[in-house]
Amino acid sequence: MSASASASSLPSSSSPSIILTNPTPLERTRTWLYNQTEWGNSLTVADYLEREEYLLSIPLARNGGITNWILTDDAATPQNGERPVLAACETLRKRALVRNQDGSVHDVWAYGVASVFTLKEFRGRGYAGKMMELLRGYMAAQQRETGEPAFSVLFSDIGRLFYAKHGWLPLENTQIEFRVRSDAELDTSSVTLIHEEHLAELAERDELLVRKEMAKPNAVDASKTRVAVIPDLDALQWHFYREAFICNAAFGRKPTVHGALYTSPSTGSRVWGLFERNHYGGPEQPEKNLISFLRFVVEDESISDDELSTAVVGIFRAAEKEAKDWSCSKVEIWNPLERVRKAAEAATEFETTFVVRQDKNLASLNWFGEGATEDVDWVVNERFEWC
Ligand SMILES: CC(C)(COP(=O)(O)OP(=O)(O)OC[C@H]1O[C@@H](n2cnc3c(N)ncnc32)[C@H](O)[C@@H]1OP(=O)(O)O)[C@@H](O)C(=O)NCCC(=O)NCCS
Repeated sequence: MSASASASSLPSSSSPSIILTNPTPLERTRTWLYNQTEWGNSLTVADYLEREEYLLSIPLARNGGITNWILTDDAATPQNGERPVLAACETLRKRALVRNQDGSVHDVWAYGVASVFTLKEFRGRGYAGKMMELLRGYMAAQQRETGEPAFSVLFSDIGRLFYAKHGWLPLENTQIEFRVRSDAELDTSSVTLIHEEHLAELAERDELLVRKEMAKPNAVDASKTRVAVIPDLDALQWHFYREAFICNAAFGRKPTVHGALYTSPSTGSRVWGLFERNHYGGPEQPEKNLISFLRFVVEDESISDDELSTAVVGIFRAAEKEAKDWSCSKVEIWNPLERVRKAAEAATEFETTFVVRQDKNLASLNWFGEGATEDVDWVVNERFEWC
């Protein structure tokens, strides 16, 4: 069924025959053909289809970690074996933690929702809204039956209202960012670069730190439920594999530097930042490309201000150096710790700006347990959770 041929006879989104289901492989390919117009960026259609297929096989997504969804009309006659794709999205299963109001901490699954899409010709008829309503209903029912998913996250590019109607509320959405200097000589001798072989140890250590944090109550209101997606190796590798594919298609090479790490000479404690390159513009449009920190970790909170400042400067310079090497014009870090933000602002060489995101990449949470989503404390709400 071509889009134009069917647009005139589209079913109502409130029709009882409208269902949320999983696509066949052919239907799934159609969802990619539809949404590559929006998210193909610098990739050719063939590269985009190859990337989407590839993304099903990488960490986090492999072994049933990803589920594709379509909204379709159960009453429609399939054309060439395919049902109409009225809207589509996917969910990614992520390891997570919940600290309940009684102080107990549990390992759970959370679902990230991604790639919410309706073909242009089908928009404004309530299909995406219906899909989110059904998806939320499905997740909430699963949660009641099995306890999971305990919560869901997504990153809205369409403002605060649409997803909030269906329970995904934008919570903390701040960032600091700075423009990459073209002429600066960057001394990065205070840090070491993070490569593939360092990731497993750092992710393991980070998970321990997140567990330690989750064992504590919220500092302001001890009765708050706390949730965290775990920044484990799979969660990080999903970004790095995806990034490598895009870089290879656009530049013919893959990044080897995934971040930078500072070690305190006085205590041995570490500060590190992991980052990815986001090439929305490809090599020709560096102004659209940026480096995003996936995770920024301060291993020991008692590190002195001076050392933290040296760490932040070194890690930012390393990110800037990579940005220059990969045609990126900006560096950003989401929801930085207050002390990291202060250190960044004090380091005047970067001219950082503090931004509260209003429209794009709004980290949004849907909590399925007792109590309201707006009362939940979302710990380590950083870019590594994006999907
Ligand atoms: C966003 C999208 C999925 C909506 O699909 P749809 O089937 O038309 O959605 P519905 O008809 O259920 O709802 C449309 C609502 O979304 C809102 N909306 C759509 N695009 C929007 C945008 N860019 N910014 C803010 N709101 C937007 C509409 O204003 C409308 O609001 P209303 O219900 O208060 O009238 C579709 O426009 C799309 O695929 N866009 C391109 C991809 C995209 O941006 N996806 C979201 C990624 S987070």
